[in-house]
Amino acid sequence: MRIDGRTRVCGLMGYPVEHTLSPLIHNMLAEDLGHHLLYVPFSVEPDRVGEAVKGARALNLMGLNVTVPHKSAVIPWLVEVDELAEKIGAVNTLVRCGDGYKGYNTDMTGLQSAMRTDGIELSGESVVVLGAGGAARAVAFLCAHAGAREVWLLNRTPERAVQIAREVNDAFGRDCVHGLALAAHEEIPKGQYLAVQGTSVGLYPHTEEVVIREEGFYEKIHTGYDLIYRPGDTRFMQLVRAHGGKAYNGLKMLAYQAVHAYELWNGVKVDEAETNRIIQILREETNVI
Ligand code: ATR
Repeated sequence: MRIDGRTRVCGLMGYPVEHTLSPLIHNMLAEDLGHHLLYVPFSVEPDRVGEAVKGARALNLMGLNVTVPHKSAVIPWLVEVDELAEKIGAVNTLVRCGDGYKGYNTDMTGLQSAMRTDGIELSGESVVVLGAGGAARAVAFLCAHAGAREVWLLNRTPERAVQIAREVNDAFGRDCVHGLALAAHEEIPKGQYLAVQGTSVGLYPHTEEVVIREEGFYEKIHTGYDLIYRPGDTRFMQLVRAHGGKAYNGLKMLAYQAVHAYELWNGVKVDEAETNRIIQILREETNVI
């Protein structure tokens, strides 16, 4: 791409940013769609988040992605926050808006879109979420927002799951999320559930690890979503499949969160063929089958 005086700039702020796949995705989208846009990584130290947002606006950057550890810390520096992102308390996408930026959480809208392409609707669904870190917390909010029937949030440290359940139930005014210890999974009523694996357990190189091994748990799972995409086939996914369920990794979510951010920045709709091209490139890049 030719860079000239009209090139618009987007980027990622995180710490660290060295392993991100976002520049690959966004620069490819810009090239394929013929947009004059450049996307670059910015390493922003934790105590410089506010300066970074103000500096980005001063430099007229059209948008930013935000990653670990800044997803919550950036919120006080924004002029506006989308309703779902505000409830979650985390944003990953900033869109230039007036004198500053508006924050969105396209991680979650991206997960929802990825699920839809696999035929899954959260509305009315019974869901099990494993974990109570930032990712699992966001998934619990998304489930309530999308109208899930019930959410069983399971975590090694049960207090964190109980706390998130309380926050989600308060935010949506209904008692749909239940926080439990991982070890208490037998208390989940008989039935068929969608399970979202939101812990860091099973991430490369610890690919044999999984938070729940008991067969009885997997017999209740009709579909398993692992938010991990490295490796592309986790132990959790293998256990879901071994008990007759369908299993998916986090690669499509990664692609859709980027596509949604790109759409917000450029005011365009990225079609399915282009999104599938991005997914294919990411598969090759991460060696996911
Ligand atoms: P993220 O923001 O990516 O979700 P995080 O906030 O560090 O990351 O959360 C990591 C999640 O993985 C937590 O739910 C954590 O459980 P605890 O709250 O009990 O720490 C979970 N986790 C990490 N290592 C684990 C392990 N060995 N067994 C079970 N759960 C684990």
